[in-house]
Amino acid sequence: MLLLVVVVLSASSSTASHHQTTDWLVGAVPDSRARVVEACWDDDDDDDDDAKSSICGLDLTNSIVSRRFALSPAFGTVDWLLNATAQHGGLQSMFRAVQPEARLRIDGVDFFVGCLDQTSGFRAYWKRRNGTLEKRKKNCLSYVRHRVRKPRAPFRWVPGTRGSPKTAKWPPEGIALEVDFAAAAAAADDELLEATVFYELYDGAPIMSKWLEVRRAAKGTTLEAVDVELFDAMPRFGAYFPHGSFVPGVDSNGASSDVVTMPQPLLFAKTDQAHGAACTWTDNWNASNIVVEGCESCDHDRGGNEPLLNCTSSPGVELDDDDERGFESFRVMVVAIDSPELERFTLSRHRLVQLLAPHAMENPVFFHATDVSVGGFERVVDQMSEVGFEMLIESFGSGFNLESTNATYVNLVASQVAYANARGIEVGGYDLIVVTRGVSPEWTAVNADGTLSNDACFASGWADHLEERVHAFIDETNISMLETDGPYGGEVCASTNHSHHKGLKDSVYQQSRRQSQFFRKLRDRGLYLNQPDEYFFQGGSRTGMGYDEQQYSLPRWEDLTLSRMGLYDDLYKHLPTQGWMFVPIIVYHAGSDAAAFDNRSLAFEWALAQYLGAGTAACYRGPHLWADDLEGRRIKAILLKWVAFYKAHRQTLVQPVVHLRRPDAFSWDGFLHVHPLSPTAEVGVALIFNPTTRRLNIQLRLPLYYCGLDDEALLTLDDDPTPARVKLARDYSATLLVDAAPLSIHTVIVARPTFSS
Ligand SMILES: *[C@@H]1O[C@H](CO)[C@@H](O)[C@H](O)[C@H]1NC(C)=O
Ligand SMILES: *[C@@H]1O[C@H](CO)[C@@H](O)[C@H](O)[C@H]1NC(C)=O
Ligand SMILES: *[C@@H]1O[C@H](CO)[C@@H](O)[C@H](O)[C@H]1NC(C)=O
Ligand SMILES: *[C@@H]1O[C@H](CO)[C@@H](O)[C@H](O)[C@H]1NC(C)=O
Ligand SMILES: *[C@@H]1O[C@H](CO)[C@@H](O)[C@H](O)[C@H]1NC(C)=O
Ligand SMILES: *[C@@H]1O[C@H](CO)[C@@H](O)[C@H](O)[C@H]1NC(C)=O
Ligand SMILES: *[C@@H]1O[C@H](CO)[C@@H](O)[C@H](O)[C@H]1NC(C)=O
Ligand SMILES: *[C@@H]1O[C@H](CO)[C@@H](O)[C@H](O)[C@H]1NC(C)=O
Repeated sequence: MLLLVVVVLSASSSTASHHQTTDWLVGAVPDSRARVVEACWDDDDDDDDDAKSSICGLDLTNSIVSRRFALSPAFGTVDWLLNATAQHGGLQSMFRAVQPEARLRIDGVDFFVGCLDQTSGFRAYWKRRNGTLEKRKKNCLSYVRHRVRKPRAPFRWVPGTRGSPKTAKWPPEGIALEVDFAAAAAAADDELLEATVFYELYDGAPIMSKWLEVRRAAKGTTLEAVDVELFDAMPRFGAYFPHGSFVPGVDSNGASSDVVTMPQPLLFAKTDQAHGAACTWTDNWNASNIVVEGCESCDHDRGGNEPLLNCTSSPGVELDDDDERGFESFRVMVVAIDSPELERFTLSRHRLVQLLAPHAMENPVFFHATDVSVGGFERVVDQMSEVGFEMLIESFGSGFNLESTNATYVNLVASQVAYANARGIEVGGYDLIVVTRGVSPEWTAVNADGTLSNDACFASGWADHLEERVHAFIDETNISMLETDGPYGGEVCASTNHSHHKGLKDSVYQQSRRQSQFFRKLRDRGLYLNQPDEYFFQGGSRTGMGYDEQQYSLPRWEDLTLSRMGLYDDLYKHLPTQGWMFVPIIVYHAGSDAAAFDNRSLAFEWALAQYLGAGTAACYRGPHLWADDLEGRRIKAILLKWVAFYKAHRQTLVQPVVHLRRPDAFSWDGFLHVHPLSPTAEVGVALIFNPTTRRLNIQLRLPLYYCGLDDEALLTLDDDPTPARVKLARDYSATLLVDAAPLSIHTVIVARPTFSS
């Protein structure tokens, strides 16, 4: 669809409100549909009319963020605004100085995309009254045309799949601006070098993506490096690199730590690629150059603080004019955050994943089966279906062989999958695919020093072989999940005779690309993908939450406490559904009977409560869920209770948490899932643990701001038949008393007092 939005606006500063009225993290912001408008902006908000000059161009805006591009004297970013609520600083600019939109290094020469530059070498801040723009004279690709369309999905996905939010949008809703650029590739020839830069801005959130394509250089030219995002930011949004002043928080005179405690840059950026591309903040002070008259040493912006965001990679690929689309870069994803406060910062970052990898909110309750003999498999599937488990994975050590071509074996798996499918249970299996895989020599990665590695090269024939086998196995058996352990981990391969890369230089780019395509193709077929590493934006579902393997061999109560502590911390990094934990029903690495959860109903209940309560799947691993005896029947009852709880509150439990109190085995601990945009009355679920052997009278203060509540809340403690109507204090908290018996677990359901859907 081609959408041409040509609304000419004179964005006059006197009529626009200087702050946002709704906090995007807790409510739907009015008029926040992303759009591209043609507009002119005054250099300065002050009303000193004489000094006024206007810059005209394109405004990519959703009223929460606006990225402004000049069209004249050349194309380039001239401002990037964050429109926060008054409480978080109102309308503010992140922009410090002009940078090109991208840099391409081709055969040793730098080309800049978008030819905008600034006349002044003063770059410590943007001189709004008198900032002067100019056109770069050489080695730059000029604006040719632009198009406006809707964002496209990088792979197929249906919101609501496997219990994920039905309200998620796929592709994400927003607007895409595509800008074409071109230049003569070299002075001496008429060969054109072309690039298209893609910007996507999403509705209702300060979140953007950017990537580019490069085309039509002569054959044999190499794209050595590409900086996809270069942005000179003001500190607070960018990292602090001060030349003279001190970084906020620094204290070096006799303090316990004289380490500089640099605050987090508020413009959070990451790439969608697991390896071979990165966003970093660097000090761009050297780019400045103003000499003060009469002072030889007074060059640069003395006293300035000049962070540059540089999202870059070194693909080392030959550009090939046979390929219509040419080179496609990684994507940069950014969220502009208005506060360094940890929960707010974390919830903002989580939104980026919820928006751009919403399939990672699928969260099947799954079981790692170690006994997949005909009898063992059917027994455990029957148990799973009795208590509501949703997915079985034929575990490592079970003999599962994804790459088998043995028809007897494949038919056996197909019949097992059919047995499970008929009981509403999906089946998948485990395979080690690249790292330490040990494949035949012609597919093995070659280290930089010429020795053979232990890994497969994913830009060799191995990738084709594996892909062919995996899809055949899926066709033959109807498995619908895979645990692909050891995916491509970022290593080079120096081979010069592999089918999908030329040598060492393009080996990281080509292996990342193949690995990403491998996952995207599986995601297109609807597979659920356990994958260590960050392949979420390529279709991956879940990774290890962030534990140490050995903790699951500790005595089970130590394991539970330590794992709850780690999980609490890991929920700052991941959404609950992005990570898995582990429950060794039978011994995993070591630890003997003291580590196992089989036949231990109390420990089993804590495991279920802390993992299902966190919305985090655990690998419950063993030959069965429960044994056929009295303790086994207790475990079954506990499974029924907690799986039912999970399913009743799933839409809230898959949402991120606000952290209440970190587990310390000294007192209570807990977390609160927050779901401000819930389509039902339920907007929060808290889990409270008393791991001590004392009775605790907890005055539980629940911070309910991020549940989207303002005035009152309905709180249901445990299975209390009538919820309490509680007035919120002015810090948006509600306090409730919890009488917590030794070793007890409590739940609080938070609901809106009035609700109409
Ligand atoms: C900031 O938000 C307010 C309230 O929605 C809106 O009126 C104003 O135009 C916004 N400013 C910008 C620059 O987007
Ligand atoms: C604006 O910049 C120009 C060129 O750098 C300079 O000549 C002029 O004095 C400046 N004006 C003001 C008001 O700073
Ligand atoms: C940048 O400036 C710093 C501080 O003056 C200096 O130490 C460094 O060598 C400079 N780097 C470059 C690449 O010029
Ligand atoms: C961005 O980072 C890359 C890799 O470190 C570097 O080669 C490149 O010069 C940087 N770009 C700019 C504009 O500083
Ligand atoms: C094929 O698989 C079946 C079932 O797992 C097994 O019994 C048989 O030994 C396998 N055949 C070969 C040649 O590996
Ligand atoms: C294949 O598995 C899916 C679950 O992933 C199930 O819905 C479907 O019915 C199965 N198809 C067949 C032919 O059994
Ligand atoms: C591929 O290259 C390796 C060295 O990296 C060499 O040992 C091997 O013989 C080559 N194979 C073929 C088929 O050319
Ligand atoms: C659990 O109980 C069953 C049946 O009583 C028994 O076979 C099994 O060995 C027990 N498991 C452990 C780890 O004690």
